[in-house]
Amino acid sequence: MTSYDYIPNDDFHIPYKTIEEANSHMIEKTPEKHDALIATLPLQPVFERPFGIGPLHRLYKGVWIPEEIIRGTLELQQCFKSRPTDIFLASFPKSGTTWLKAMIFFTLTRTNYSLDQHPLSTHNPHQCVPYMEEEFATGRSKIIEVISSPRVMNTHLPYALLPDSIKESGCRIVYVWRDPKDVLVSRWYFAQKILGGADKMVTFDRFYEFFYQGQNSFGPIWNHVLGYWEERKRRPEEILFLKYEHILQEPVKSAKQLAHFMGCPFSETEENQGVVEQIVELCSIKKLKDFDVNKDSDLSTSKFNVHISNAYYFRKGETGDWKSHMTREMAERLDTLIEEKFKGSGLQI
Ligand code: A3P
Repeated sequence: MTSYDYIPNDDFHIPYKTIEEANSHMIEKTPEKHDALIATLPLQPVFERPFGIGPLHRLYKGVWIPEEIIRGTLELQQCFKSRPTDIFLASFPKSGTTWLKAMIFFTLTRTNYSLDQHPLSTHNPHQCVPYMEEEFATGRSKIIEVISSPRVMNTHLPYALLPDSIKESGCRIVYVWRDPKDVLVSRWYFAQKILGGADKMVTFDRFYEFFYQGQNSFGPIWNHVLGYWEERKRRPEEILFLKYEHILQEPVKSAKQLAHFMGCPFSETEENQGVVEQIVELCSIKKLKDFDVNKDSDLSTSKFNVHISNAYYFRKGETGDWKSHMTREMAERLDTLIEEKFKGSGLQI
């Protein structure tokens, strides 16, 4: 690998939640210095609701950013200092972030834990790998600074909006994407849960239209995927492009690819001992969903005032659920749009 080879770190095994608790004195007031710029950005709900207003977003450089993280996004862009050893998981929401957080975390820390006492059995994957926009939006940037290397973090920002420091440090980015039709279905259910039920949510057909117009958090999705894809062509050693459907089809192969990319390939002994299969098994939706921490609907990972139960991150975990929600015409229309956007890039749904 070019930038570094993975060196296991004694501190690194501590899930992020523990680091955060130990350093809670470092939490600062949400930064307000970007508010003058923010006030100039268009503000509107990204979809309608039968009662009440839909989730408010700001349109920043052509991207819909949720209002609650816009300050954090600007702060992150301007102040974050990346290290060459950092690993970023980047994704469009509902593309497999939770799964990849678990896989990356387990793979990097595999020598630190025994299987029967693994932190993933007591922590939601989002408590092990911090979500950068939220951390910065809730004044936790200094806590991110004290995490020992190699740090692993996640972002939903499109490539164009990443801080320059991430683009220039030589750190690694794992990008996961998924058939946009399944992303759309997954988002619809997730939004329903957060908003308190189907009756508080727009119909699927209307939600589809908003998605089709590119109106959803971090959207449009086609720009998101293309941004990382094009950059990956330039820097294949620093950006890994994974597809949800392929991981589901060949999880062992994908886990090996991931480990190799992160600079910690599995040894022959590990492979013979079945370590890769153990990682795949523990990170499977069936297994993660069954841990009490992910079953308890009262537990929330969110640092905002909204209750996002740990259970919300695990639904079906399959491919093709769109077939139960879209007509053939709807599917073809969305596919055609995405194909047009991807034209000439070499990417296919
Ligand atoms: P579905 O709603 O289609 O089931 P994200 O983590 O980016 O928010 O994506 C959530 C989607 O990933 C949901 O998809 C969820 O069920 C699925 N998912 C969560 N954990 C998974 C796992 N371990 N394996 C496969 N899919 C998983």
